[in-house]
Amino acid sequence: MNIDSTLAAVVTGGASGLGLATVKALRAQGVKVAIFDLNKDIGEKVAEETGAVFCQCDVLSDESVDNAFAQAREVNGQERVLVCCAGGGNAIPTARRDKKTGEIKIFPTDQFEWVLRLNTVGTFRCITRAAAGMMAGEPVDEERGVIVNTASAAATDGQMGQAAYSAAKAAIVGMTLTIARDLSRENIRVNTIQPGIFDTPAMARAPQEMKDALGAMVPYPRRLGHPDEFASMVLEMIRNCYINGETVRLDGAIRMQPR
Ligand SMILES: NC(=O)c1ccc[n+]([C@@H]2O[C@H](COP(=O)([O-])OP(=O)(O)OC[C@H]3O[C@@H](n4cnc5c(N)ncnc54)[C@H](O)[C@@H]3O)[C@@H](O)[C@H]2O)c1
Repeated sequence: MNIDSTLAAVVTGGASGLGLATVKALRAQGVKVAIFDLNKDIGEKVAEETGAVFCQCDVLSDESVDNAFAQAREVNGQERVLVCCAGGGNAIPTARRDKKTGEIKIFPTDQFEWVLRLNTVGTFRCITRAAAGMMAGEPVDEERGVIVNTASAAATDGQMGQAAYSAAKAAIVGMTLTIARDLSRENIRVNTIQPGIFDTPAMARAPQEMKDALGAMVPYPRRLGHPDEFASMVLEMIRNCYINGETVRLDGAIRMQPR
């Protein structure tokens, strides 16, 4: 698919980190971009800076997502690209014994469900809406659309405490080929990126020595990933029409240790 000013794109989680880097990379090619994000203050600010449209959106809600797509299409027209970056997780052991009191605590089920609803269901909710919109339009150079999802290295090598996050991201990897098959007769491609550890605001909250230690775990390059390296992979997945139904690790060859 050609990446130029005739194209409209939606980026969820586009106010920050990997999503924001993707917004910038698409805008640099002239693409009309809509940022779907929960964070109104930052979303509006970065939309103004990048020339994107901000649509406040909670990927946990059908109504909110439907409204955001309607708003984006009103301004930019039908999107032919969806990039799903909205997500996040928690770190809670499956069951643990309190060192001082000996009390045994379990991973609260509602917190497990929340991570699945945010990452897996939130991604799928946006995919269904985007796919339906793309299907209503005519193909351009045979293609109707491209969808790129964000999983994580945790999908396959989750660390201690990441049971919910691993499950949620593994589900995104798992559904990628299936959704690509579902949408294949409509000429819509679906791919997923499995990032290792990237230097985003989510990571900026961690102490520098922790970031250095994480960077040193990466075989090569021995550092955290730059968000623009993620965006570059998104653009290749849009551009290269033979990549479909695939999950690509983007991680400097890191394989996460238990902790
Ligand atoms: N940074 C990393 O090292 C890393 C590694 C692997 C995977 N990931 C994944 O990449 C994606 C982006 O991560 P990031 O590091 O850029 O994080 P980030 O916190 O910088 O950005 C995430 C954005 O998603 C938005 N968001 C959160 N919940 C939302 C909701 N319910 N509806 C709409 N928007 C919502 C936030 O407001 C934020 O702007 C996430 O899915 C994350 O799990 C990140």
